[in-house]
Amino acid sequence: MKPADRMAGFGAYFFAQLGKRIAALRAEGKDIIRIDIGAPDLPPPDFVIEALVESARRPDTHSYTTYGGTPEFKAAVATYYQRRFDVALDPATEVLGLIGSKEGLFHLAQALVNPGDVVLIPDPGYPTYRAGTALAGGEPYFVPLLPENDFLPDLEAIPADILRRAKILWLDYPNNPTSAVAPLSFFEEAVAFARKHDILIAHDAPYVDVTFDGYQAPSLMQVPGAKEVAVEFNSLSKSFNMAGWRLGMMVGNPDVVRYVHVYKTQLDTSHFQPVLAGGIAALTDERVWPWVEERNAIYKERRDIVVSALREAGIPVETPKASLYVWYPLPEGETDSKDFCSRALEEAGVSMTPGSVFGPHGEGFVRVSLGTSADKMRIAMERLVAWLKK
Ligand SMILES: Cc1ncc(COP(=O)(O)O)c(C=O)c1O
Repeated sequence: MKPADRMAGFGAYFFAQLGKRIAALRAEGKDIIRIDIGAPDLPPPDFVIEALVESARRPDTHSYTTYGGTPEFKAAVATYYQRRFDVALDPATEVLGLIGSKEGLFHLAQALVNPGDVVLIPDPGYPTYRAGTALAGGEPYFVPLLPENDFLPDLEAIPADILRRAKILWLDYPNNPTSAVAPLSFFEEAVAFARKHDILIAHDAPYVDVTFDGYQAPSLMQVPGAKEVAVEFNSLSKSFNMAGWRLGMMVGNPDVVRYVHVYKTQLDTSHFQPVLAGGIAALTDERVWPWVEERNAIYKERRDIVVSALREAGIPVETPKASLYVWYPLPEGETDSKDFCSRALEEAGVSMTPGSVFGPHGEGFVRVSLGTSADKMRIAMERLVAWLKK
């Protein structure tokens, strides 16, 4: 049996292959510390788990729920946007519940893109923007994120003939993989640019609540008029350590919310209601904010371990203000991030993500994820620094 033609070009997902390699090394008795994948290692707040359990014990929560999230869940998303960003959303028309934001990123292209439409995609970037575009028959145009521009795209450098055919501009701040942040002024420029060129901005913001040193990341929805030209994806995965729950949301332009909703109704039958109950608790209970602060302090400790170890090894790394990642340049003399990470895995027992996995402009960098305990992170960094000094 041959796969469909549209599957051409889709190999195994990088992390699926890496997982197999690590399993094989562990089977040989090697101790491997994983600081590659961007997944929270700690649980959500207790009161969120309680809300799930309480809901699951009720007899009336086990059937199908409303497509795209219940009105209560959508109202909770609106409450969160109001509380966190001072942004008013109409829960009925400007909010859609997602089974994790990843599906929404993918569906957006299916709902909007015709063959031949151009989609502007950051390079390096999260691979789903490209995959969704490719399966919709769209044409990706990669917009480089360069260190000299603080990993913000230079929108004015996009050629006019590309802009004429462009339908979507993807943005992602706080950024994966570079951990760069965007000031609200950049979002204002992007909204003006989208309006001028009649392009939809799709802002992917799952790390908006993973921030350090007092930094507060803005929502693109804070820009006046953003809803006319933009949608924003957000997620409970990283904000509240709920990655396995598969709970996210898309907010913003009501037409686009409706298109993705219609598309989704063909595919899935929404969430398990207790998951939504936990999500409502996370989004609306005031106890979540001190919890977020404590959780971010845990990531900050890990971040500081990584940054100081890399600096000790002579690597000039920026201290990230947000996200779950440290993005560092390859040590001098190294040119191939896949080769470098592969040797670090085999020889030092430390698994990191090569920058080139995220696109050609990710080459020359390595991504470390903060989803590992401080104790293990210390050991990983000691091993890495010792290996680098060899
Ligand atoms: C930039 C970015 N977008 C979206 C996602 C997907 O998050 P989820 O589907 O868990 O909401 C991730 C997960 O790693 C991510 O890094």
